[in-house]
Amino acid sequence: MTEHRTRVDVGIVGGGPAGLMTALLLKRRGISAAVIETRTQEQIRHTQRAGILEAPTVNMLVEADVGSRVLTDGHEHEGTVLSFDGIQRRIDFQALVGRSVWLYPQNEVFHDLATAWQREGGEIHWAVTETTVEGIDTAAPQITFTDAQGQGRSIEADLIVGTDGSRSMCRKLIPEDVRTDHFISYPFAWFGILCEAPPTAPELIYANSEIGFALISQRNESVQRMYFQCDPDTDPEEWTEEAIFDHIQQVLGVDGEVQLKRGPIIEKTVLPFRSYVCDPLSHGRLVLAGDAGHTVPPTGAKGLNLAFSDVRALVPRVAEFFTELREQTPSAVVETPEPLRQYSRTALDRVWKAQNFSYWATNLLHRQPEENPFTHKRRRGEFDAITQSVHGQAYFADSYTGWSD
Ligand code: DHB
Repeated sequence: MTEHRTRVDVGIVGGGPAGLMTALLLKRRGISAAVIETRTQEQIRHTQRAGILEAPTVNMLVEADVGSRVLTDGHEHEGTVLSFDGIQRRIDFQALVGRSVWLYPQNEVFHDLATAWQREGGEIHWAVTETTVEGIDTAAPQITFTDAQGQGRSIEADLIVGTDGSRSMCRKLIPEDVRTDHFISYPFAWFGILCEAPPTAPELIYANSEIGFALISQRNESVQRMYFQCDPDTDPEEWTEEAIFDHIQQVLGVDGEVQLKRGPIIEKTVLPFRSYVCDPLSHGRLVLAGDAGHTVPPTGAKGLNLAFSDVRALVPRVAEFFTELREQTPSAVVETPEPLRQYSRTALDRVWKAQNFSYWATNLLHRQPEENPFTHKRRRGEFDAITQSVHGQAYFADSYTGWSD
């Protein structure tokens, strides 16, 4: 039996960056929210995710008033390097589109948001189990769950926001005859490492070669993040430290100007690759945001940035929904409110642009299983078309640094 009931305007399922940013921005507009999350705060804090923030994402963190660590501890990158068979070409974001990106790991973004929400007394339940969401097609949806102390609880709300990640349970509440699941898989994955070494280069390097893709990213002066293309069923333990660094060096070119800085590997993981879009992102009194509604392959680090652009599109529509709600006479069954339909349309337009960029950059930079001299040389032609022309470079820079809304 449920023993504790809470009543808020918005119940949020999922306490990652998308859910917490939604909660904070709604609060700034006088809309109350409560958040539940299945993982512990420590688990999320220590899960490695991508590290690149677009300018609009950084602006949101600053404007949401969650502290300015992104500006003090993050590193502004005014460009990036694309590499093909050992040839390196720089894309100068600032010169091309007047924007930068910031290297600031997603787990730090999470930490800043969680700290701000809790400091402001926001309701959040970590490590919950037995979550159910009911009544999204009524005017009184509710979340029930068991909290970390084993206490049964419920949150009654006017609206549920599902920010519960790529394995979303909220998404499945949109009936199958209403929902289209657009999904593709890829025949490869990324092998990600964290190592204790100084940075290899001042900016990120996205590299392709006859043996596939590698990405040289960073975390700070003494810890670096790198990835290379692998089979999806790779066992990380099969790769020795030496084999990993030799392989990445080979992707960059053995005799070239980029010489990898090596050091002890402290984490190894294999990351899956897929593209997914749920259409629509709203149904009745439920909306989805972030990975719950869409997944991109990691090339280009669009995941978190796309989640934040969802939140930018969502928050004003939720405010509109509440204004309309207060003027209406209550009824038992609800259609999807128009502001929430509008959110879905706006968000999906950007999601498809990002899907296209992530898919395109993935195919430009990865070795395909059916690779042959033609397909490799064709991709070299594509690489040249992008990196030798200011228009091609501008396409990359505009997409990578984040389109304006
Ligand atoms: C990182 C991850 C990415 O997918 C990417 O495109 C750039 C950087 C990272 O983890 O640092």
